[in-house]
Amino acid sequence: MEKIVSIPIWYENDAAFDWLYPERIQKLSKRHWTPLEIAKKAARFLAQDPKKKVLDIGSGVGKFCLVGAHFFPDVSFHGIEQRKELYHYSLAAKELTETRNADFINVNFTQVDLDAYDSFYFYNAFFENLAKEDHIDQQIEYSFSLYTYYSRYLFKALDNRPSGTRLVTYHSLEDEVPPSYQLVDATVDFLLKMWVKR
Ligand SMILES: C[S@@+](CC[C@H](N)C(=O)[O-])C[C@H]1O[C@@H](n2cnc3c(N)ncnc32)[C@H](O)[C@@H]1O
Repeated sequence: MEKIVSIPIWYENDAAFDWLYPERIQKLSKRHWTPLEIAKKAARFLAQDPKKKVLDIGSGVGKFCLVGAHFFPDVSFHGIEQRKELYHYSLAAKELTETRNADFINVNFTQVDLDAYDSFYFYNAFFENLAKEDHIDQQIEYSFSLYTYYSRYLFKALDNRPSGTRLVTYHSLEDEVPPSYQLVDATVDFLLKMWVKR
């Protein structure tokens, strides 16, 4: 008899995934959380080796990590998120989806040793400091100088990574991408970009 492999309901499409979260979080989805198909593409590029640790810098409610962890069960996905509320939603979604190979930390990314990870996903996390509207909340300070500080900090950390390090950016202004990273692939609209350190 043919074996039927079913995808858990959450991973069928973006609307289904959104049901893991309360309505306020669902409403932020289109603007702030990675679309499912983009997350799959990015994770495929980053999950090259089962021993690798993939880090999402600014993991929000955990969507990229949970999707990556589901489709690439041998790879570990890690998320850093500065907002406590979003961090708690990522933990709740991890529990609901019974995901084993994803975890989350609630800190500013500058407080984490980025050298402990092998490859990186970055969905324009610092742009909220430049945006005039559509903020996630009004709980934190936004400023141009924070944008510059974070972008430079990440630029330096990425530049110090060994040759072969993989990076995926989505909607990025590329201020955090050092010239030592070579663009190796992109989606046709050039919003999702895959990079490898020379
Ligand atoms: C555009 S959302 C992307 C969320 C998630 N990566 C995804 O793809 O679904 C960016 C997230 O980065 C977080 N963030 C921004 N600056 C941060 C920082 N300095 N440290 C940690 N998280 C940060 C924001 O709170 C927000 O949740």
